[in-house]
Amino acid sequence: MQASERDQVLRRVAAALTLVLHPTTGDDVVSSGRVRELDVLEDGTVRFKFALQADDPGTLVRQARAAAETVEGVAKVKIDIALPAAGAPQKKGALRAGNVPAPTPNPNLIPGVRQIIAVSSGKGGVGKSTVAVNVAAALAQSGRRVGLLDADIYGPNVPIMFGEKRKPSVVGPKGKEKMQPLEAYGVQLMSLGFLLDAEQPAIMRGPMIAGILKQFLSEVEWGELDVLVVDMPPGTGDAQLSLVQTIRLDGVVMVTTPQDVSTGDVLRGIKMFERTNTRVLGIVENMAGFICPCCGQRYEIFGRAGGQRLAEQTGLELLGEVPLEMIVREGGDEGVPVVIGHSESPSAMALRALAENVASRLEALVPAAV
Ligand SMILES: Nc1ncnc2c1ncn2[C@@H]1O[C@H](COP(=O)(O)OP(=O)(O)O)[C@@H](O)[C@H]1O
Ligand SMILES: [Mg+2]
Repeated sequence: MQASERDQVLRRVAAALTLVLHPTTGDDVVSSGRVRELDVLEDGTVRFKFALQADDPGTLVRQARAAAETVEGVAKVKIDIALPAAGAPQKKGALRAGNVPAPTPNPNLIPGVRQIIAVSSGKGGVGKSTVAVNVAAALAQSGRRVGLLDADIYGPNVPIMFGEKRKPSVVGPKGKEKMQPLEAYGVQLMSLGFLLDAEQPAIMRGPMIAGILKQFLSEVEWGELDVLVVDMPPGTGDAQLSLVQTIRLDGVVMVTTPQDVSTGDVLRGIKMFERTNTRVLGIVENMAGFICPCCGQRYEIFGRAGGQRLAEQTGLELLGEVPLEMIVREGGDEGVPVVIGHSESPSAMALRALAENVASRLEALVPAAV
């Protein structure tokens, strides 16, 4: 790379880094002096020092990395982190979990709903809906008030997985009608599929989806909920982006399969959420190992610990590992989530443990005073 080109990349990276802000003070990482000795090497590697300050969330570095990585011409990003001096004052109760601070409450789009999480994935077919459905059912089983919103416009199949064939009814006085979610397994269920025609092509553009979703959400009578679980469309296109911008999420659960780990789709997904300041709660490895229906033996078809590696690489938590088990698919097809139908199976236990992990991560985000 020539000097003039390096110079341009340098300037672009610096500009990108000024958009990375400290979540509470609003300082950008460049003018606050955190980023130092920024340099672009001949092979397109960007290097800089990051002087971490005492109350910085560790994820500020990740955000800086993500910002630099997306700049055109950047091949690699190397960051030397300088830790704050020992004994530097730590801000009491500072949130270390996730990559952003607790967001301000949902701006009244869904009143009565305490926390909203999304289940997302880099691509389809990895078990996103399966995880969303079973996590929602498991949370309801443990006594929480749970809603499930199927916002996957490409394949709104959550109602099928919940055995729901009814359409939602409309309640409320004339002129102020609202849609009543359907209740199954203690979960309040709503699907964009209820609105979309089977023939309607699922190629609506992001802004259109955002518009529909906004209207849809404000017209649903969710009632009081502890958690709303959103099954997102797969991928990282503008449809997903507008959803994230429409619903203020408290956190995202990223689902991946062992093969998916190596494709980079998950990483792209994680980066999209980081760019939009949406906290990623952690990763779920689905279809991790196959449990034989005949002998119960577990076979590691795709090798071991891909999810663990990805978690280490991204600094995110591995929230659960769900094995591949025939009863999971059968449960999905028959409309009985496996945590309900085969509650003592390995996959059900893994999904319940995952749900509890998610719940405790969410609890940790609620200010102590509440
Ligand atoms: N752990 C699992 N064991 C067995 N089958 C699974 C498992 N997870 C998902 N499946 C099946 O794989 C298919 C795709 O899963 P789905 O949840 O619809 O993925 P997505 O929502 O990501 O497109 C479904 O038929 C589902 O029943
Ligand atoms: Mg799905």
